Amino acid sequence: MKVLFVGDIFGEAGRIALRIQVEKIRSKDRPDFIIVNGENAAGGKGITYNTAQDILSCGVDAITMGNHTWARKEVMNIIDSGMSIIRPANYPRGVPGKGRIILENNGFRLGLVNLLGRVYMDNHVDCPFQAADREIQNLKGQADAILIDFHAEATSEKIAMGHYLDGRAECVVGTHTHVQTADEQILEKGTAYITDVGFTGPADGVIGVSREQIIRKFISGLPSRFEPASGRALFNAVMVTIDPKSKKATNIQRIADFIKL
Ligand SMILES: [Fe+2]
Ligand SMILES: [Fe+2]
Repeated sequence: MKVLFVGDIFGEAGRIALRIQVEKIRSKDRPDFIIVNGENAAGGKGITYNTAQDILSCGVDAITMGNHTWARKEVMNIIDSGMSIIRPANYPRGVPGKGRIILENNGFRLGLVNLLGRVYMDNHVDCPFQAADREIQNLKGQADAILIDFHAEATSEKIAMGHYLDGRAECVVGTHTHVQTADEQILEKGTAYITDVGFTGPADGVIGVSREQIIRKFISGLPSRFEPASGRALFNAVMVTIDPKSKKATNIQRIADFIKL
């Protein structure tokens, strides 16, 4: 079983890059599941019906979110509509949407969970570690393997989560920083892990945003509008292989490609 997980799709450039690369990867490596983080799909912040539809029409099975889940009010029309989109499971009780989904292909059931970190992040969410325990418990007997997208800023919080879930989730991937880390590995008890998958979007800005605007903001401290950068795109993902018999992860491979749009 091969699972392709693509990092934060940023704006139109990210969606175009996703379509180009997924088509290539599908014909070459035939992933059984394709999952993407879509928190930056709409113009760099949040997601809408059209941008979610655009992503899913590439052959994507499910979309995870992050700290920008609620950035577009249109998300409320799709978060409970039956579309394959999940939001962090550790949001407070009663919040719209759900934090886990079960995907199925050829009789193999993949449980997908989204979590949000708390370190250096401006949000009030429940403990992601305890939420992970709850979600894994809920998936017991219902999923053959579990993949967790831990959307968090601090590398330490993500590494801690990887070890905390080692042997209990087949795959723990980090998202949010938009910069791919080179620490992909199979942990001691068999969990495929990477601190951050990176992002898919404009390659020559500052984590997706126009570099002039960000540099001006750093120098002046004045508030400014952020727009997606132009130019080539970067596609960041990982391909995880899970042995269908033992249901254990056997390999995790980083993918980082620059694409001319
Ligand atoms: Fe992001
Ligand atoms: Fe984020």
